[in-house]
Amino acid sequence: MLSQMMSRISESGTMRMAAEAIKLRSQGYEIINLGVGEPDFNTSDFIKNAAKDALDKNLTHYTLNRGIKELRDVICNWLQAEFNVEYSSDEIIISNGAKQAIFNTILALVSPGDEVIIPTPCWPTYIELIKAVGAIPVLLKTGLENNFKISPEQLKSALSEKTKALVFSNPSNPTGMTYDGAELKGLVDVLKDTNVFILSDEIYSKLIYDNCPFDSVGIYREVLKDRIILFQGVSKAFAMTGWRLGFAAGPREVIKACDIIQGHATSSVSSISQYAAVAAFSGPQNDVIKMRTQFDERRKFVMQYLKKIPGMKFIKPDGAFYFFPKIDAFYGISPDGTEIKNSTDLALYILRNAQVSVVPGQGFAAEHYLRISYANSLSQLEKGLKAIKRTLDQIKRK
Ligand SMILES: Cc1ncc(COP(=O)(O)O)c(C=O)c1O
Repeated sequence: MLSQMMSRISESGTMRMAAEAIKLRSQGYEIINLGVGEPDFNTSDFIKNAAKDALDKNLTHYTLNRGIKELRDVICNWLQAEFNVEYSSDEIIISNGAKQAIFNTILALVSPGDEVIIPTPCWPTYIELIKAVGAIPVLLKTGLENNFKISPEQLKSALSEKTKALVFSNPSNPTGMTYDGAELKGLVDVLKDTNVFILSDEIYSKLIYDNCPFDSVGIYREVLKDRIILFQGVSKAFAMTGWRLGFAAGPREVIKACDIIQGHATSSVSSISQYAAVAAFSGPQNDVIKMRTQFDERRKFVMQYLKKIPGMKFIKPDGAFYFFPKIDAFYGISPDGTEIKNSTDLALYILRNAQVSVVPGQGFAAEHYLRISYANSLSQLEKGLKAIKRTLDQIKRK
């Protein structure tokens, strides 16, 4: 009954966890959510006021598919000021979240049979979108041992004449690792004399800690002869996940193709969200800094706590709001009669016994790991980590 495409893609890997959490809640358990993928902060008042203003001015009509010029202009200024990358407003398309921007771009660039290189662990959507268009995801494995970073040699060895693009998030969801400018240059140099595009999802770039330097790969635009597309948005930096607004910045031809695709799908993003985003990108950035400071405090707290849990190995993440500990030390143990064989088994065990939800690494193409989010209050983090420690301490002893 369903299309061939549906036989190639799968539902989000977190569904089983979500269903179990719902079941436990219905039985009266309080579940602490350390699986969250969005800031727990509220959108700033000045941004909300800009949205209210837009409503009062009846700015409630369709806009250009690719978004209002005013927003694309402030985004160009923001890209220049924040990352020193230069784009003009006709090289930007506003979409319903970075997610739609990525979807448009893959539809615009990638053909059936093409290969697309994806370093893992990765955000699951990349793999599913590549499969949806009939292309082949070529997964490049990384782990704790190499700080979750691919090397230029690894990239080189994955190239073939079918390679169309390299897709990754920097900083990374789920690992928090961040490539610096020199590391990016190493990857860019490998692709310099090819026709391969870089699709760089930089949605977490405002959430970087310890003064870790961040470079957008967009600074190498010229080196790669304009085969770079950047993805950004308001979801993570401005705590605006529900407003559904992201963008792609890239060569005119690709942006034009995205415009055509989006025109037949959703048309423009909500006009109200666009006016709110004008305020977000051009207004005071104090709330972003405040949010980052709080995330950093939580990051340090979680790090200290995780060190106390034997069997969890991890690196200190540079950015985003996740830890990605390796947990295979718990495999082969059968604490309740059922053997823990993989990350989903361990996440389910933690959910049932500690009443804390975390995300299994399986969903990020990285078996042997768990994703623990710190987009939750310090008190919830403490409660959740304490329960995880208690639960895992018990099973290690058996
Ligand atoms: C790496 C990454 N890219 C993109 C997105 C989606 O962003 P948006 O809300 O702008 O669609 C997410 C959300 O979790 C993400 O983690």
